[in-house]
Amino acid sequence: MQHSVQAVVLAAGKSTRFRTGTSKLVKHICGQELIVYPVKMLKKLGIPITLVVGYQAGDIKKVLQERVDYPINYAEQKEQRGTGHALLASQSFWQADNILVINGDMPLMTHDVIQDLINKHNSSNAAISFVTAHCNDPSVVGFGRVIEKDGITSIVEAIDFEGSFEEDCCINAGAYLIKKSFLEGHIKKLEANKPKNEFYITDLVKLASEEKLPLVMHSAPFDKVRGVNTLRELWAAEQIKRAEIITHWMYNGVSFSVAQNVHIHLDVEIGPGTYIGSGVQILRGSKIGSHCMVAAFSKIKCSTIGDNSVIHPHTLVHDSIVEDNAAVGPFAHVHENSTVKSGAKIGNFVEVRNSVIGKFSKAPHMSYLGQTQVGENVSIGAGTVTCDHDGTKLQKTHIQDCAYIGANNALVAPLTIGKASFTAAGSTITKNVPSQALAIARERQTNKLNYAPTLRADKQNPNKDSAFIPAKKTAPERHNL
Ligand code: UD1
Ligand code: CA
Repeated sequence: MQHSVQAVVLAAGKSTRFRTGTSKLVKHICGQELIVYPVKMLKKLGIPITLVVGYQAGDIKKVLQERVDYPINYAEQKEQRGTGHALLASQSFWQADNILVINGDMPLMTHDVIQDLINKHNSSNAAISFVTAHCNDPSVVGFGRVIEKDGITSIVEAIDFEGSFEEDCCINAGAYLIKKSFLEGHIKKLEANKPKNEFYITDLVKLASEEKLPLVMHSAPFDKVRGVNTLRELWAAEQIKRAEIITHWMYNGVSFSVAQNVHIHLDVEIGPGTYIGSGVQILRGSKIGSHCMVAAFSKIKCSTIGDNSVIHPHTLVHDSIVEDNAAVGPFAHVHENSTVKSGAKIGNFVEVRNSVIGKFSKAPHMSYLGQTQVGENVSIGAGTVTCDHDGTKLQKTHIQDCAYIGANNALVAPLTIGKASFTAAGSTITKNVPSQALAIARERQTNKLNYAPTLRADKQNPNKDSAFIPAKKTAPERHNL
């Protein structure tokens, strides 16, 4: 018979061993906060959730509100007096026949392990079923160990454990399915443990065993049950998650030059045939098309890259779209809702901010394009800068189709450069340029014939190359130029 299940996630702890002053449960692994992992897993299983909060409760609730679309009841544990005490704080929410209690700090746990636990529990008459794992590595600390002694099963916490890691290698994972009737009768029988005066949920196992009630243990791979108590354990868990993500994309036709230093978040998509270079970061909310290249040390965040596009090394694309067959970088920065349209090219040391670069347009070298609408087939010369801030607010520039902006232009916004117009190199354009016009906005050049020798130190040898007068001596003469 299928019994009803509801979950209680314990998330009120102080994260003392983290030593950062913030709750570990809002820290990220592969772009997702720790607390979001168990909540999403329970959502997948369709199990109703009560979350016990206390320490930095507001931060935890905010994260869940933003990141998970699933109803959650919150119970408050006012004082942090251990996992048993945290469970007690949720008592008013207990309704189902069985209460699934899960530590909030086990991000690698998967829904299939919990489903197996539920199945085993349902097909037995256990008072408590709980997940265990095998670990005989003495450097792995912090787990309670399942000990059978004199016919009694109990969980001995790390702080009290004096046995051999080799022999007592069954650890308690921190996920328990407990009959509500047992819980109601026993939760208040828990006693405070020294030295911290805390009530342990794990003591319920001993209570059940002493009453000869059936217990079920369900063994899972250790990597799935790793808890996160310290920053080191956060790092270790993230390594595992990263490897899972990279493996997934490898099986989906994505190749990597140095897979071990690539960082890809969970909610990312990558098309087949795409190549990812060394040190690349593809973060939250990004979608990379097929047959793309994202070259070394580039970072893509909250952005979409279309099919067959190339992101050259050391390029940042944030909150933006690069369409199909486009090229960006090296050392480029495309951000603040910018779009680089199909076939367009953004070259080295170019910043594109809150701008649209039209189809087949190009800005190949050292430019800043801010608040700018660039039409199609526009060519933007090296060193062009849109002057988009008038001292108080941002102003827009429009560069219409087929315009040609000469090198080293300053385009002072607000400004419209008309269709198929030209601007001369070195111009400071402050007025709109009509369609088909040539705009020249620079000082005319004067050539002072035979003036150069007067600037040279050695006036007897006017053709001597390297003999320029030192700056200090020539200052008055230079002013005369
Ligand atoms: C716990 C288990 C241990 C198990 C390990 C698995 C106990 C006593 N020990 O130890 O047997 O091997 O998990 O990872 O349960 N919390 C509260 N309120 C509190 C204290 C903790 O809500 O007063 C929450 C924490 O936020 C955390 C979870 O309970 O999410 C587990 O607490 P933690 O202190 O990490 O337990 P461990 O020492 O890891
Ligand atoms: Ca823990």
